[in-house]
Amino acid sequence: MKLTVIGLGYLGATHAVAMAELGHEVIGIEPDKTRLEKLAGGELPFHEPNLDKALIRVIKQGNISFKQSHDEQSKDAVAHFLCVGTPQLDSSNAADTSYLFSAIEALAPYMSPDSVVIGKSTVPVGTAAELKSKLSKLSGFDAHLAWNPEFLREGTALEDSLRPDRIVLGVEDEHSEKILREIYEPIVSSENTPVLVMDIPTSELVKVAANSFLATKISFINAMAEISEASGGDVVKLAEAIGMDERIGKQFLRSGIGFGGGCLPKDIRGFMARADQLGVGSAVEFLEDMDSINLRRRQRIVDLARHEFGSLDDKKILVMGAAFKPDSDDLRDSPAVDVARKLKLHGAKVVVHDPMALDRLGIVAPELESNEDLIEASKDAELVVLATEWKDYKQLDPNQLLVKNKTVIDGRNVLDVGLWQQAGWKLIALGRNVHN
Ligand code: UGA
Repeated sequence: MKLTVIGLGYLGATHAVAMAELGHEVIGIEPDKTRLEKLAGGELPFHEPNLDKALIRVIKQGNISFKQSHDEQSKDAVAHFLCVGTPQLDSSNAADTSYLFSAIEALAPYMSPDSVVIGKSTVPVGTAAELKSKLSKLSGFDAHLAWNPEFLREGTALEDSLRPDRIVLGVEDEHSEKILREIYEPIVSSENTPVLVMDIPTSELVKVAANSFLATKISFINAMAEISEASGGDVVKLAEAIGMDERIGKQFLRSGIGFGGGCLPKDIRGFMARADQLGVGSAVEFLEDMDSINLRRRQRIVDLARHEFGSLDDKKILVMGAAFKPDSDDLRDSPAVDVARKLKLHGAKVVVHDPMALDRLGIVAPELESNEDLIEASKDAELVVLATEWKDYKQLDPNQLLVKNKTVIDGRNVLDVGLWQQAGWKLIALGRNVHN
């Protein structure tokens, strides 16, 4: 089937490649020329395991083409996927949906009455209805519009797209449902994936509700870390024990400096803003607390460092990790970068190491010093902070580091406490008393 995928950021690039892998004929539309040229040349503009090879594969197979804007070819497409970003507005908690409306304006002249516009971006509930009304006005016919949220995680994006837990279809007409079912048929038939058909507002809500739940789970365990710190408990043991109850589940109970990235933080804020507009703000007021707990964990690292040294003035601190999570070079709302900045603001001489994200760090946080050689970066450090749980750090032999003072704060609770202590280190962990 011929499809367009509009917006080739994280979501769009992955979706376009996944659709091409299924054998569809995909036209990827991306206004940013640099990004477009990279993709057309078989190079991903971000790091994502396995997607790089899949991109080259589908280009070779001729299943995908890249364009800066629509042309006559778009008129033959049976479906147009909207994958543009919906970032948080600078001025408030709300999501900026303007890129979606611009995408619709650009698409309208190239739409046929039988084609279906399928939204995948994360949106405030009610956005799809506004987009449909605008699209119908611009195109002059009753346009088909459906919503099909995406649940992929960075680091496993292609796998999540090709083998999702479930496929959610927000539809309001049979034609849209039929097209969507045809598109996903190869996944459903080979993976036996559950397909959930629902009204469009519910499908919009599914995504923000899922991300809010995940954020709440992480903040819950981090709240327990605060309690553990005050009471001498151990949050890692606590998480293990409660997670064994199947009703609770052990995933997303990893305590530490909390969640970041381009999704969870902005989605809970956008959800609160939308609920306020709907007059039901109090229903999700608790998300404000989840946000605060999360941000407090970042500050906790600074407090622990200051508790250790009194003043941080001129103390050399090595921050291990910049990406918001391992196997990603994404720095959007990264807790690691926030911690590094905070330590620097307190006068410390901060050096950041990351296996993958230092080029980006130079662009988004040029004020932070970085070094791609971990051992060299550790030279004369008086404190090491583990901020992103890369495998390189988990497997690190602490004896290799050239520090002046052997103190480490494990911001992700992943280091082997015995190993580090035996090597003569004082290890400080979040939410745990590790008895140095
Ligand atoms: C998240 C959701 O997990 C996806 O289902 C969703 O599709 C995606 O947002 C999106 O909206 O597009 P992602 O942002 O890639 O995916 O990353 P997660 O794996 O959810 O991690 C988010 C943050 O939470 C990271 O900073 C991670 O370090 C942190 N985290 C995660 C914890 O602090 N503890 C945990 O137990 C799990």
